Order: sequence, then structure tokens, then C-alpha cells
Amino acid sequence: MISEEMKKTLVEKAFEVREKAYTPYSHHKVGAALLGKNGQIYLGCNIENAAFTPSNCAERTAVFKAVSEGQLEFDAIAVVGGMEDAEELDYCAPCGVCRQVLREFCDNDFEIILAKDVEHRKTLTLKEILPLGFGPENLR
Ligand code: THU
Repeated sequence: MISEEMKKTLVEKAFEVREKAYTPYSHHKVGAALLGKNGQIYLGCNIENAAFTPSNCAERTAVFKAVSEGQLEFDAIAVVGGMEDAEELDYCAPCGVCRQVLREFCDNDFEIILAKDVEHRKTLTLKEILPLGFGPENLR
């Protein structure tokens, strides 16, 4: 389990990178801050596309950045998101595709921190948000 201080840092970083979200179509902006077991934090935002399907979620942007830099093991991710004109945010949980991508690299006890703001956050495990997940061990 990561410290409350680290959770707060991850949420703050997720809010910072949310500013970079490229969302001309949905106007729904998401930021993610992924903590590697090496102690480094990898940031991601959602990046949309005029052809729609090439769009990428914030969580996957963060995972793909980390993996492409050689980091394949993670402890936690903070995710914040909502409509760009929302006065206050609700919790924004990872979509099914992102849960599956996290399943590839993260243990059952990997922590997902959802936050409405820096003070209001809740933590779930990967096992809780993706029970009975299919993963790399199924192909061994
Ligand atoms: N989105 C994310 O980036 N992460 C989530 O957890 C949910 C959805 C993005 C995808 C798309 O750019 C926009 O939010 C609306 O679905």
C-alpha cells in the first residue's frame, strides 16, 4: 500500500496533466498519474482523434509512456476526469479497455485512486474493478 502523502501527490499530478487533455470532440478531460515500482511517476492525458477510434484514454497514455521507457511494474494510478465545463468533478473510473491494459502489468493489489479533488479521493484495487480478469498467466 502506498502512503496517503503519495496518493495526494499522484492526484495533484493527475490534475496537472489533465490540463493537457486533447478533447475537441467529447470535451471530457482526463488525467492519470501512474507510479512505477522504480518510484517514478508517469503522466498521461486522453488524446482524441477526428476519426474517433484512434483516441486514447489518459490511463493508457500513462502506461504506454512508462512501458516504452522500460518500466513494466507499477504500484498505483490516480485518475481524475470529467467534462471540461463541470463546476465540480465526480469520480472517473477507468474504462474496460484501460482495466485490461492495467491487468497486463499490475498485480491484484495495484491501487486505483479516484479523486473529485485533492481532498476527496477513494482507493480501489485492480481486483475490485476487474474481477476474474484474463491476464498473462492464462497464456503460460
Ligand atoms: N476517457 C479516459 O481518458 N479515461 C477514462 O477513464 C474514461 C474515458 C476519455 C476517452 C475519451 O477521450 C473521453 O474520455 C470520453 O470518453
